[in-house]
Amino acid sequence: MTNQTVTTRIVLASRPVGKPVAASFRLERESLRELAVGEILLEVLYLSLDPYMRGRMDDAKSYAQPVEIDGVMEGGTVARVVKSRNTEYAPGDIVLSHSGWQSHAISNGAGLRKLDPNAASISTALGILGMPGFTAYAGLRNIGRPKAGETLVVAAASGAVGSAVGQIGKIFGTRVVGIAGGSDKCGYLRDELGFDAAIDHRAGDFQAQLASACPDGIDIYFENVGGHVWKAVFPLLNDFARVPVCGLIAHYNEGPSASDGPDQLPAVMRAILRKSLTIRGFIQREFADQRPDFYREAEKWIADGRLRYKEDIVDGLENAPEAFLGLLEGRNFGKLIIRVARE
Ligand SMILES: NC(=O)c1ccc[n+]([C@@H]2O[C@H](COP(=O)([O-])OP(=O)(O)OC[C@H]3O[C@@H](n4cnc5c(N)ncnc54)[C@H](OP(=O)(O)O)[C@@H]3O)[C@@H](O)[C@H]2O)c1
Repeated sequence: MTNQTVTTRIVLASRPVGKPVAASFRLERESLRELAVGEILLEVLYLSLDPYMRGRMDDAKSYAQPVEIDGVMEGGTVARVVKSRNTEYAPGDIVLSHSGWQSHAISNGAGLRKLDPNAASISTALGILGMPGFTAYAGLRNIGRPKAGETLVVAAASGAVGSAVGQIGKIFGTRVVGIAGGSDKCGYLRDELGFDAAIDHRAGDFQAQLASACPDGIDIYFENVGGHVWKAVFPLLNDFARVPVCGLIAHYNEGPSASDGPDQLPAVMRAILRKSLTIRGFIQREFADQRPDFYREAEKWIADGRLRYKEDIVDGLENAPEAFLGLLEGRNFGKLIIRVARE
């Protein structure tokens, strides 16, 4: 008799209209088949929850395929090899995989990266030493092009990407102003990460506070949010300002045809021309050839104490939907990770 592994997984139950709800997801259990030659069985230890997953829940044309209805929710994971019929991997190896919202998965080894648990805490492969950290590094260097003395403003600044953007901006000598939701997050940016200023985007006088924190205007705005945060930043942009457009989380729950009041486009286009702005969208993987530089530099900065990180770890795969809904409303504080199993 074979000893079959049962995977617990969370699938997309229905496509949300507006905000996702608990019923957008469904938890299921399924027995996995036996391994074929060349395959390995992975036990997921950590699952990364990221804003892009909201886009995968829609059936709209994008840079990536949507998750199918009844399909396992997509996601980056850190996993342990528990069985192997692949000569490259042995039981006990720890890998970065893309196994999604589930406890176990079968892989043929393609696209996996072995992690050294002695080099860094393995969960960092999903955050500061993973996709979000690299996004910060690549977007800031290639599009933000920071110069010492310039003013850098970053949105969603206490999060996985934003906190790295601000700290890397300090390493490059910029004056850094973070925008975050609430006094705890703002205090963390100033007191623990060394930002020059931090402004609460929920404050009634947010726009005025931002203007007074940027007396010389804004040279680089690292856009993670859109909405009212963009509106406050936009008039403060200096000539030749650079705007890496990394994310627009304030709009992820809107349908594709949603409009934010009167048409802003003519004013934005006029400013792009008049101020010679560079507003450039990007998806981090276009800079994939810079990943080795990133790992080298980021590991050094972490060791020197110049690049710090905060993880918001939630226990239990069954809590992933609720944690994800919280991410879309700013309830996470730091890189949001689900601990699926104990190391
Ligand atoms: N282009 C790429 O390749 C790429 C790669 C990774 C991530 N991204 C984007 O980068 C951004 C940040 O991602 P992350 O992983 O670092 O997430 P995160 O910042 O750790 O978490 C999301 C944060 O966004 C803020 N937020 C949520 N809804 C908001 C709203 N309506 N208005 C203002 N702020 C809101 C909340 O912070 P507050 O409490 O501070 O409001 C929340 O904590 C996202 O837009 C994401 O899509 C892009």
